[in-house]
Amino acid sequence: MARGRLNSSNKAEAELPKAKLNKETLRKVSRLMAYLKPYRGMFIAALLFLFLSSLVGLAFPLLIKSLIDTAQGRHTFGLLPATIGGIFLFSIAILLGQAFVSFFRILWFVNVAERSLADIRRDTYFKLITLPMNFFSNRRVGELNSRISADLSQIQDTLTTTIAELIRQSLLFVGGLALMATISVYLAGAMLILVPPLIVVAIIFGRFIRKISRQAQDKLAESNTVIEETLQGIAIVKAFVNEAYEAARYGGNVRDVANIAIKGAKYRGMFVSFIVLCLFGAMVALVAYACVLVSHHKLEVSGLVTFAFYAMYVGSAMGSFPDLYANVQKAVGASERVLEILDEKGEEISISETNNAINQRIGGALTFSNVGFAYPSRPEITVLDNVSFEAATGQRVAIVGPSGSGKSTMAALILQFYHPQSGTITFDGIPSNEYSLTDIRNQVAIVPQDVMLFGGSILENIAYGKLTANKEDIIQAAQRANAHEFVMSFPEGYDTIVGERGVKLSGGQRQRIAIARALLKNPSILILDEATSSLDSESERLVQEALEELMKNRTSIIIAHRLSTIREADKIIVLEKGRIIESGSHDELITNEQGLYRYLSTLQFEGVN
Ligand SMILES: Nc1ncnc2c1ncn2[C@@H]1O[C@H](COP(=O)(O)OP(=O)(O)OP(=O)(O)O)[C@@H](O)[C@H]1O
Ligand SMILES: [Mg+2]
Repeated sequence: MARGRLNSSNKAEAELPKAKLNKETLRKVSRLMAYLKPYRGMFIAALLFLFLSSLVGLAFPLLIKSLIDTAQGRHTFGLLPATIGGIFLFSIAILLGQAFVSFFRILWFVNVAERSLADIRRDTYFKLITLPMNFFSNRRVGELNSRISADLSQIQDTLTTTIAELIRQSLLFVGGLALMATISVYLAGAMLILVPPLIVVAIIFGRFIRKISRQAQDKLAESNTVIEETLQGIAIVKAFVNEAYEAARYGGNVRDVANIAIKGAKYRGMFVSFIVLCLFGAMVALVAYACVLVSHHKLEVSGLVTFAFYAMYVGSAMGSFPDLYANVQKAVGASERVLEILDEKGEEISISETNNAINQRIGGALTFSNVGFAYPSRPEITVLDNVSFEAATGQRVAIVGPSGSGKSTMAALILQFYHPQSGTITFDGIPSNEYSLTDIRNQVAIVPQDVMLFGGSILENIAYGKLTANKEDIIQAAQRANAHEFVMSFPEGYDTIVGERGVKLSGGQRQRIAIARALLKNPSILILDEATSSLDSESERLVQEALEELMKNRTSIIIAHRLSTIREADKIIVLEKGRIIESGSHDELITNEQGLYRYLSTLQFEGVN
């Protein structure tokens, strides 16, 4: 169900199986509640205080009652002082206790909620980054991101306030009703006749509102995707003068959001006015009835006042239920989606912050035997077909071929981002699945086709290759990668912030940072996925030198677009439409008159002139 691009509105409807809703909902909420477990001591204390403060709230009208009774010369409760002053002082003491309890109840609730939410956030994030690559190619990352943050803040609201409020209001509701019954069974009975219909209506409306608010959330997530994508690709938007197009696209999206929200508001409004009408109608009717009882001496005046207080409690509790209920429902929707991610199957990696060490060394020999592969998202298109080759330890193997022939895919397979459907990949003669993913990735480095830098400093970006490296190592790696000089030409040197995704650096500079990163990692196997964009000859020389340095003493798989860079390779593999059609050294391949390699070389040779 979680596969495929999330189609928001269809999905919202598909996920509301009406019959099973309640059971499912409870099961899911209870799974999320497991996150409260580590903090259950504090949670129980908070609940206890919540209970206490609600009880005091319920006792308050009784104090008022005893004040009125005392004023009329009666002593209602044997436990309480018999004078107005005494009862007043007693009330103040109770209120002080109430203040104390309320403070800690809120503090503890927020404490528990925030901590467990931090755990949920951490787990969701960890889950996300350990999900297989395929998960990401099936989704728009922006949508995923905003969806998760919206969902988590909904859960946060619910954990910090809604749950406590729901419990408090329920206690006031039940306690209020019970105490009303002790004052006058007739009055409480009258109230009970009026309440249940309201509850039925609340549930029906609540379902409706839930559905609509989920639609609005989905739409909002979709419109946030537009923002994120366009801001990330702002240069493209501008270059194609597509501001108007994007603005219209976003405008349409937010209009939809507004429309759905307004539709929801209509029902909420109807709901609230209905409740208000019924509530006040019921209250007026009750007070009138109570007055009749007083005139027939079936009720004391103090009883009437107390009853009015409880009626207010019960009434405002009823009034708060729909919103609280809707909030809980929203949180349930949100937790369903968060749990959906937590339930996704992650990659089988054994990562912990303390243990990322290499357990099984890889010397550097690499083979593909009869590898067949199709991306899981497009199973019908074979990207690699029966690919076999060998790279002995320390060898340089170049892969060339037209765009889309599957070169970067081979790199992705070596890194175990995906697994071949047929055939095997071995390291040092041992099938890849006998290594842990972390061992392979820790010993294979890639300088990718499009170098991606993180928004921090140059130093941090190079250190990404080996988080434990010290500054000397980093600078040494930068020197070997021909990056030191340009880095030092910046006023802030290694502390220069590279801008989001490295936009403040040129293509060649970014590449050399990536090379320094790979040098620092010191892998046994190196993959170079050469950028298609050509550098000027000076930068090219610098990059080429850096690459030569990087390739020393390790197995290198060079995916090359500029054939001039691979003449020295021990072996050249020519790939076309996912099949190896030629392989051999440059000298061997160039003599094959009909060969693709010769053809491509001639093309490039002519292109240069
Ligand atoms: N994540 C993906 N999901 C589905 N199909 C993909 C994915 N990545 C690449 N492809 C498809 O696989 C084929 C091979 O792509 P690949 O990136 O390996 O080509 P390439 O040889 O590296 O091309 P170039 O020289 O342009 O970099 C292409 O047809 C491409 O559309
Ligand atoms: Mg590629």
